[in-house]
Amino acid sequence: MKNILITGGAGYIGSHTAVELVKAGYRPIVLDDFSNSDPSVIERVSEIIGQKLICFEGDCNDKSVLEKIHAEYPLEGVIHFAAFKAVGESTVLPLKYYQNNVGSLTVLLEFMQEKGIKNIVFSSSCTVYGQPDKLPVTEETPRKDAESPYGNTKKICEDILVDFVKSKANVRVVSLRYFNPVGAHPSSKIGELPNGTPNNLVPFVTQTAAGIREKITVFGNDYDTVDGSCVRDFIHVMDLADAHVKALSYLDQKNAPFYDVFNVGTGNGNTVLEIIETFEKVNDLKLNYEIGPRRAGDVVKIWADTKKINEVLGWFPKYSLEDSMRDSWNWQKSLAN
Ligand code: WQD
Repeated sequence: MKNILITGGAGYIGSHTAVELVKAGYRPIVLDDFSNSDPSVIERVSEIIGQKLICFEGDCNDKSVLEKIHAEYPLEGVIHFAAFKAVGESTVLPLKYYQNNVGSLTVLLEFMQEKGIKNIVFSSSCTVYGQPDKLPVTEETPRKDAESPYGNTKKICEDILVDFVKSKANVRVVSLRYFNPVGAHPSSKIGELPNGTPNNLVPFVTQTAAGIREKITVFGNDYDTVDGSCVRDFIHVMDLADAHVKALSYLDQKNAPFYDVFNVGTGNGNTVLEIIETFEKVNDLKLNYEIGPRRAGDVVKIWADTKKINEVLGWFPKYSLEDSMRDSWNWQKSLAN
């Protein structure tokens, strides 16, 4: 059974990926410093997979922790989620983002090279595209200047991985450019757990529905879109987790290139107001929302061209937007218990 290190594995996408890795016959080994995740997630994932999820508490900037893990569980691959991800905070504390998001990747790659660990899947983001001139975006769409230090760390990390592969470091890399992850595991045992006030739309929606937030502010409805609100490609976190499993097995294929990059989205765009409407319809409730001013740095519309991941990885989304809205709400309700 292959040991796969999941840095940030107690986080939203990492925890769902751990579940899918076990289903695919891997042994996930979590490394998390719990700076932006809750240790209880480890127990909840263990309940879902029916076995103890192996977890080490620590910082992937600390090579000694990585070496300790490898000594106990010889690693055959890495999925690197660990990163700070709050767009707004990154503009206030850029050095914290560069040191952590970029610094930890360089430590990890050095460790992998020293130990002969060949495969890494990197958690990138559609934010590298900025506001695309043409939609849907393909992997060949030129990356643009990032709207935030957070987005810039994703671009820099992709460049580091390309240069590392070019240096004949004998590492094989897949970067996955996520669109907007939403939803939760159908068991409602794991889901998105934002610290403090949510930055992202759907946790704000679920917390408003739960009465934790008084109302949702829609950041602008005067954009050039079908209803004036921004368009995003909202992808169920379970589909996103499955994409990581497929990327890992792709890296084992002899004919796989040493570096590859894939968009991971549904291929459909939905507006903010459509999210609110869908959430209300699927969950049979009314949400309190108002239209407010635009949010600085927001991309107006973006959604993925998924031809490449469909054809090369054989990956297709299985969950609908309705599933995402239902699973998000069931997860939020479970938190009240
Ligand atoms: C989506 C839309 C908002 C909140 C960012 C990062 C991306 C990834 C996900 C980390 C926008 C609108 C939001 C609210 C609103 N990062 N909105 N009211 O900005 O597309 O992507 O988060 O994993 O890399 O770039 O996601 O959910 O913040 O916003 O109207 O209270 O919802 O204006 O149009 P975003 P988001």
